[in-house]
Amino acid sequence: MDAHLNYDLRADAYSRPLDTFDVSDPQLYFTDTWYPYFERLRREDPVHYTPESPYGPYWAVTKYKDIMKVEVNHRVFSSSDDVGGIRIDDPPKGMERPSFIRMDPPEHDEQRKVVGPTVNPMNLAKMESLIRERTASVLDELPRDEEFNWVDRVSIELTSRMLATLFDYPLDDRRKLIRWSEVAICDINAPDALVRSEEERFAELLKFTEHMNVLWEERAKRPPEFDIISILAHSDLTNGMSLRERMGILILFLVGGNDTTRNSMSGGVWGVSQYPDELRKGATRS
Ligand code: HEM
Repeated sequence: MDAHLNYDLRADAYSRPLDTFDVSDPQLYFTDTWYPYFERLRREDPVHYTPESPYGPYWAVTKYKDIMKVEVNHRVFSSSDDVGGIRIDDPPKGMERPSFIRMDPPEHDEQRKVVGPTVNPMNLAKMESLIRERTASVLDELPRDEEFNWVDRVSIELTSRMLATLFDYPLDDRRKLIRWSEVAICDINAPDALVRSEEERFAELLKFTEHMNVLWEERAKRPPEFDIISILAHSDLTNGMSLRERMGILILFLVGGNDTTRNSMSGGVWGVSQYPDELRKGATRS
């Protein structure tokens, strides 16, 4: 059984009527009590409509097969900003950040192809020894026989080093990238939010873009390299982008590279601590 679940909320998930469910509530994730809600939705109403939430009405699609149907059918389930984009809420007016994740084919595929080379198997193979070296040094630097914060010392640290490499950004300033990524996605109503309003968020992200734009312009004048900024600065499809479009695509990579990687590292280590047999399987394989 899942030892981490809060049992009051678990009971609540099983006794409440389905039409009072709101899986957009950040508290479910903050308290790690989301699991029984999704379990019930999957069993009783896998494509569930929530008419009211702080973000407006939405559908919760909770089964793999249905999610895949939505994911691949852009004609019915568009990602385009013109019909609502990809987020549960609408971007605040005048502060939109256009990028290809919020587009449908063919524009989506054309722009995606531009940046593909950064993470194609050949380029990743070239980066493998650096990734291994970095991982080993982050782990070697950990204190022994004392408690430490894995998220900060490993997940964020390793992610920030790799993000700096992908952007060819000064390594010493790597934590700035993490802060900007957090600014981009934080819940402005959370007690520990880095910014407290959409205006404040936009102003910080504009500073980020102007800062990165200096690198973009410098790289446009130099021979092409394999970092994301150089690739964007040299492609005919992206080099003429407006500042707002640059904001969108730079933040897409910043958040795409930070959030996922870092949470996989934290979730991964938590997972193997909960299921030590899985860790032992990995150890036997290598
Ligand atoms: C553990 C690591 C990662 C996971 C689990 C992950 C997962 C995902 C998922 C689920 C999507 C949405 C795909 C879709 O709906 O089409 C996505 C999109 C994307 N990710 Fe990642 N990602 C990871 C790492 C990264 C990294 C390191 C970068 C770049 C620095 C990145 C950049 C992107 C971009 C640019 C998109 C938009 C792609 C598109 O619209 O076609 N991701 N990622």
